Amino acid sequence: MNFHVLTLFPEMIQQGLGTSITGRAMDKGLISLNAVNIRDFSADKHNRVDDYPYGGGAGMVIQAEPVFKAFGYLANHIKMTKEASVSYEKPRVIYVTPQGSIFNQGMAKEFAKEDDLIFLCGHYEGIDERVLEMVVTDYISIGDYVLTGGELPAMVMIDAISRLIPGVLNNDVSSEFESLQDNLLEYPQYTRPEVFMGKKVPEVLLTGHHANIETWRREQSVLRTYERRPDLLENAELTENEREYLTRLIFQKNYNVY
Ligand code: ADE
Repeated sequence: MNFHVLTLFPEMIQQGLGTSITGRAMDKGLISLNAVNIRDFSADKHNRVDDYPYGGGAGMVIQAEPVFKAFGYLANHIKMTKEASVSYEKPRVIYVTPQGSIFNQGMAKEFAKEDDLIFLCGHYEGIDERVLEMVVTDYISIGDYVLTGGELPAMVMIDAISRLIPGVLNNDVSSEFESLQDNLLEYPQYTRPEVFMGKKVPEVLLTGHHANIETWRREQSVLRTYERRPDLLENAELTENEREYLTRLIFQKNYNVY
């Protein structure tokens, strides 16, 4: 996977993703990161890329031209690297904005299938609408709050997508069975010691009985999701037994029987 980021702060992207698991994935050649500075495409002698909004109002707007030129440079660069390939498709261009669809694990999985992804990061009051209409394929937000710029959201998405790429996590199984897989939260985890300040590890985990442990973990996932994120349960795939377990939980809560 090749990530490309159009930004006014390329060093923020490189530093943010250059360490830990994503940094290691880059060293191993499993992902690449190419941060392009929009300012390098300014036609202004002071390298300015923003101007006052037409119609007035607070703040500044990033101009269409430097964004369009930076995008053109990047699109060309990506195409050059693909020339030999028969199935070249134009890469998706994700504009990170609080006005977009809210990012989730399902989207991360979809994006992880692409060869190249371009992220466009805004600042100030946004980017001239005309260039967005020309280049953007996806408008994505990371939540209903407003940040100072698009770099952190782009890094959040790149991190979530990267860990789904085979080989990025040491243990491929752990990206399969984890929080939000099947719309269930992950079950609680424990490690040594067996007793910590009087609190014991649940007995079933010490038995070595794999089937019972699996059942217990699924039930804990259902319980946790019911308590913390009941909205997810609507789309969760549950077995007959798990549905019964959930019905019991709801009954207990409604009638205060424990
Ligand atoms: N830019 C500023 N706030 C944002 C958010 N919540 N999501 C994506 N991009 C943003």
